[in-house]
Order: sequence, then structure tokens, then C-alpha cells
Amino acid sequence: MDKAPHMEHDRGTWGSNFGFLMAAVGSAVGLGNIWGFPYKMGSKGGFAFLVIYLLLVVFVGVVVMLGELTIGRKTGLGAVGAYAKLSKKYKWVGYLGILSAFTLLAFYNVLGGLVMRYMFGFILEILGVDGFSGAEGGFFDYILFDYSGMIFFHVLFIVCNVVIVMGGIQGGIEKFCTVAMPALFFMLLFVIIYVAFQPGAGQGYKDMLTPDLKPISTFGGFVDVLKTAAGQMFFSLSLGMGAIISYGSYLDKKENLQKNSLIIPACDTLIAVMAACAVLPACAAFGMEYNQGPGLLFNTMQNVFLSMGSFGSFVGFMFYFLVFIAAVTSSISLFEAIVTWRIDVNREKGKKTNRTTIMCVAAVCSLIVGLPVALDALGSPDAAVKAPYLLLGMTPEQLDAGQVPMAIDAWLDFFDVISEGIFMPLGALVMSVLIGWKWKTKNLVVPECEQSGHKFWGYGFFDFCFKFITPLGMLVVLGGQIYDFFIKALLA
Ligand code: PHE
Repeated sequence: MDKAPHMEHDRGTWGSNFGFLMAAVGSAVGLGNIWGFPYKMGSKGGFAFLVIYLLLVVFVGVVVMLGELTIGRKTGLGAVGAYAKLSKKYKWVGYLGILSAFTLLAFYNVLGGLVMRYMFGFILEILGVDGFSGAEGGFFDYILFDYSGMIFFHVLFIVCNVVIVMGGIQGGIEKFCTVAMPALFFMLLFVIIYVAFQPGAGQGYKDMLTPDLKPISTFGGFVDVLKTAAGQMFFSLSLGMGAIISYGSYLDKKENLQKNSLIIPACDTLIAVMAACAVLPACAAFGMEYNQGPGLLFNTMQNVFLSMGSFGSFVGFMFYFLVFIAAVTSSISLFEAIVTWRIDVNREKGKKTNRTTIMCVAAVCSLIVGLPVALDALGSPDAAVKAPYLLLGMTPEQLDAGQVPMAIDAWLDFFDVISEGIFMPLGALVMSVLIGWKWKTKNLVVPECEQSGHKFWGYGFFDFCFKFITPLGMLVVLGGQIYDFFIKALLA
């Protein structure tokens, strides 16, 4: 690392627009694409879901993406500094982002660790050693109670993040993502082609592409699909928590923001659809259900690959390797949102940037908040750490009767729900209202986009979306998720 004394105060910048794009697409493409998207699409109307999803990407995703990139690049600061610089009163929106980063990391790191464990499991299988021996109930049920293993892989995943983020924007994040993201793409392509040749895979494509209008034929059904698609789109694009603001703050003024705000969602959606083309036909070929939750990513997919014979182990390794890349390129953006915040504070005080120290502290904090997620065996009553609903005095019988709100059925869901369900949509809602009504599209977004010498296009569209469509979309997400995650069970 170059350590010239004058460099100590430098925040750093992306080396190229391509490098920035790979990092931003890396942030967007994560577990949400490979795991959330396929089963939501599979269970909520297939092609009809896809159409609604695409409309939301265009009317909400692209718009919020442009808003966040603008705020980041204009101020040259991470979320907290950026909001404070634009209006002191709204600094809290930046802090909300930092809070989201920690709550997201709490479960993202644990899941990333599990993915690594499966990756190594398949390596052992390839080497002819049984990589997945465990107790009778299956490997997944076994490892959830293997606490030392859970912690070991949790830590290992965090260490991977530390190594990358410590390298800085260009030497760490950009360098890793420019190699890893194209690799992910080709590996996914390979898995798709391999799965396509498995007998019975056709059913998966049919389920995916036949427009099933039943889920959206009633008003209630339509709203249900709309809020699921909106929540998914929004999480999948890493919006509403400051990761994209931070990445944007390292972008050169000569880069075209509007073009970038189209490319990132386009790539993210492409990978989500590709993931569905791998996961759903693979499940169909082996007669597995498209079940939700961690079971799909861990249990189902593992069994699919193991039943493909010896070459299947190789494909299984490749699958979990690409999921690992997807996960780590997302979690580094969560860490970077935190690191950028502290670097900005240090620079303001005239101190050294201290990236390494900040990252190590953030890593330890995220490890600690993630411990309950790693140790509650997804909310099992027999686990070392009790799930939130048990701590609150509710019983497993109430859980089975559907009376326990999803927000408290396990620590994973708890952290997922407060970040994805509340903090993030709230952050994006406030941001679009601020841009649309207070800071104004024409005073903030247009001049910043035109810095690069490109003419701003579609002013009417973007302004209308910032003012009306995006806030409305975010309200649907917020209302829908609060209902799903907290209220629904209480009415049962
Ligand atoms: N976009 C990531 C995914 O699809 C999740 C994420 C959200 C990452 C917010 C960073 C910030 O899994």
C-alpha cells in the first residue's frame, strides 16, 4: 500500500467507471438475488411478478439509485456527512443508514459464513471425502446446532471482508469486484446451462414463465404481489441505507450518473432472472419444492447438487462459490458505508483516515451483533440462544399456530425485518421527498448530473417520480412490510 504522508488524508477514488460499476453491481447482487428473487417469483405469479418487478425497477429503483448517487457524489461524503451537509436537520437519515448497515450485517455475515461452509463441503466431496456428514436430520439441521462451527465460519466470512475493505476503495474493493463479478456471471451461466440439461428441468421454466394471473386477480392479491416485488426490488438494489451514497462519493465528476443509475439496476435484474433460471429448474428437476427461507439456499440446493452424481459436486462447489462472491461483494458495501462515515469524521477533524482501525472495529461490532443470529439455530426452542419470541414469553405452540409475528420468530428475521422492513424504506422515502420537494430535482440532481458534460434527460419523468411515484412506492413497501412482519400474526 502506498503510504506517502500526504495520502493519509485522502479518501481515495475509483480507478475507473467500470471498477465503480462492478463494485456497485457487486453490492446490489447478493443473497437477495440468488435466494429471495427466485422463490418470490416462483411463488407469486411467475411472469406476472416479473412484469410488476420490472416496472418497479424503472419507476422506483432507477430513480432512488440516481438520487443516492447524486447525494454521494455532490457532497463527496458518506451518508451521515452527506445529509448533514445538505441540511443539518436531516443528519439522522444518515445515522439511520448506519444502523441499517449493522442490522443487515448481523445476519448477512452469518449467512455468508454458512455459504462458505457449503463451499468447503463440496470441495471435500470433490476430493472424495464426505464433506456433508452430520447427524441424521441432514447437514443443515446439524450445523445449526454446531455452535463452534457457526462461529468459526461467521468469523471467517468477516475476515474476508476485513481483508478486502482494508485495501481501500481502489486497491481493495474495486480490485476484488472487477475480477469477482465477471467470474460470478460466467459461473452462473455455466450452472444454468448444466441445469438445463437435467431431465425434468423444463417444469421449472414453465413455472417461471407461464403468466399465472391468479395471484394478481383480486385487489388484495395484487397489493400482496406489489409489496413483495417492491420490497425485493428495493433490498436487491442496496437502496435506502447509504451504501450507494458512499460508493457514489468516491466517483469522479466526469462520470455519467444517469447512465450508471440505469446500468446497475439492469445488471442486478439480469442476475436475479439468471439465478431464477438456475434455481427453479434445478429444484423442479429433482422434485424439490421451491420453499422459502434458508432451507432453499442450503438444504434444497445442496441435495440437488449431491444427487447429480460426481460432476454434481463440482457444479455444487461452483454454485456456492458464486453465492459467496455475491454475498461478500454486498457485505463489503455495508462495511464501507460504516467505514466511509468514520473516515469523513476523521478528515473533518484533521486526523488520519485510519481505514484499517475503523474497519477492524466495525468488524468486531458486527461480529457481536451477529452472535444471536449465529447461535439461535434459526429460532429453535432448543438452541443455545433463545429466539426473541421465546424471550418475550411466547411459546412454540403459538408459533405453530401462526400467532408469532415474523419480526420476532428468530434473530435472523428480527434483524432482517427492522432493516429491510423499516429502516431502509423509511430512509428512501425521506430521501425522495427531500429531493422532490425540498432540495428539488432541478437544483440538486440536474446540475450534479450535468457536471460530466452530459445533458440531463427525462427531467419530467425523474421529477414526477421523486415527488410522487417513489414516495408512494416506498409507502407501499413500508406499510406492507409492517403489516406482514408485525401485525398479520397478531390478527391470527
Ligand atoms: N443488495 C443486497 C442483496 O441483494 C443486499 C444489500 C442491501 C447489500 C443493502 C448492501 C446494502 O442481497
